[in-house]
Amino acid sequence: MPTIDNNELTGAPVRRKPKQDVTEIGGHPLSPSTLMMGYGYDPMLSEGSLKPPIFLTSTFAFESAAAGKRHFEGITGKRPGGAEGLVYSRFNGPNQEILEARLGVWEKAEDALVFSSGMSAIATLLLAHVSMNDVIVHSGPLYAATETLIARILSRFGASYVDFPAEASRADMDAILARAKEMAERQGGKVAMVYLESPANPTNALVDVQAMRAAVEAAFDADARPPIAIDNTFLGPLWSAPLRHGADVVLYSLTKYAGGHSDLVAGGVLGSKQWLGPIRMMRNTIGTICDPNTAWMLLRSLETVELRMTRAGENAEKVCAFLRDHPKVEGLGYLGFLKDGPQKDVFDRHCTGAGSTFSLFVKGGEEESFRFLDALRIAKLAVSLGGTETLASHPAAMTHLSVPDERKKALGITDNLVRISIGIEAADDLIADFDQALAAV
Ligand SMILES: Cc1ncc(COP(=O)(O)O)c(C=O)c1O
Repeated sequence: MPTIDNNELTGAPVRRKPKQDVTEIGGHPLSPSTLMMGYGYDPMLSEGSLKPPIFLTSTFAFESAAAGKRHFEGITGKRPGGAEGLVYSRFNGPNQEILEARLGVWEKAEDALVFSSGMSAIATLLLAHVSMNDVIVHSGPLYAATETLIARILSRFGASYVDFPAEASRADMDAILARAKEMAERQGGKVAMVYLESPANPTNALVDVQAMRAAVEAAFDADARPPIAIDNTFLGPLWSAPLRHGADVVLYSLTKYAGGHSDLVAGGVLGSKQWLGPIRMMRNTIGTICDPNTAWMLLRSLETVELRMTRAGENAEKVCAFLRDHPKVEGLGYLGFLKDGPQKDVFDRHCTGAGSTFSLFVKGGEEESFRFLDALRIAKLAVSLGGTETLASHPAAMTHLSVPDERKKALGITDNLVRISIGIEAADDLIADFDQALAAV
């Protein structure tokens, strides 16, 4: 695939591009599901191999010394526009580039980057955009490792944060941005980023991204506006596309629905070149790119992501309908059952489906929740979500154990909260499993 031709105008060698992708037929635009089968890959550049080979190489041969120099000018930022060719596998590779092209399709993103994990994507984003004395504004709760990264690790390098509940109103957002600006001025830094997670892990609370965008535009001059980044792991790429609602950067743990088989760990960042440029430079420097084998597996996963997510979503609706009125269930944090109010309004504007990950509040506390979890026979007792199989876990005792008790309480991460990620099994079997596990409580 990465063969090199001579650029007639400049004499500089450039990599041969795949032939033009078919993205529409007679004015009819092709849907992302169709594009997942071939977009960004030309078999004729790889001996006709229908599927992309896995490029297991640490480095790429240059056509000439001048080509090598030109590539490094792009890699180091001396010349805008990034690398034109393949250089070294810490920077890029064919499998990763095809994956980035296909990921971008779902949200019509200008650019995309893939990473070795969701956390390495988030860490690279923050390292790229946050400096000493800066302030990060973030919604809460966040995935616990993200909270740790912001509150306990970036603080060691002089960055601080203010947080607000995911459900905040526009007025609350205005107030928190004003506070962040004041803090940044006092510290001699800037408000570096607005970081959101919606739906939040594990409560499923939604952030009004449109309201946040309006609040940020009202609070900052255009040239000082911080980017709005959002973790879309729970509903993306099928049920929510936050770039359309005012986000600048969208993050993924691709380990979840995109990967979808609980057999890989990876992350992704989507958005405009303006915001992704510095993140790419940081990834080049610290080497947080996804490996070629994982990228290949993700390409296969993306071919079925719509099928898998649709089935999982339908299953979740049936399972939740069963759990809703069960005498041993105190409540459900399922987006499909939101009552009229501000959260339902955000859901209607931002989401096209309720997802398949939800909170089940068992009547009782930790003991009853553990009894339920230990009795499950089809659903596996494991953290993570978005796989083909149903998983159940106890956030307070597992993923969010490191969150201080007071904060857990404030965020609603209670001892009777069980997080469930519904898979693509037969819904009736799952209902039978939950029924017998609740009987054991
Ligand atoms: C919402 C969310 N963001 C980020 C992550 C981190 O992703 P990874 O485990 O791929 O590093 C997770 C992991 O559970 C998550 O649930």
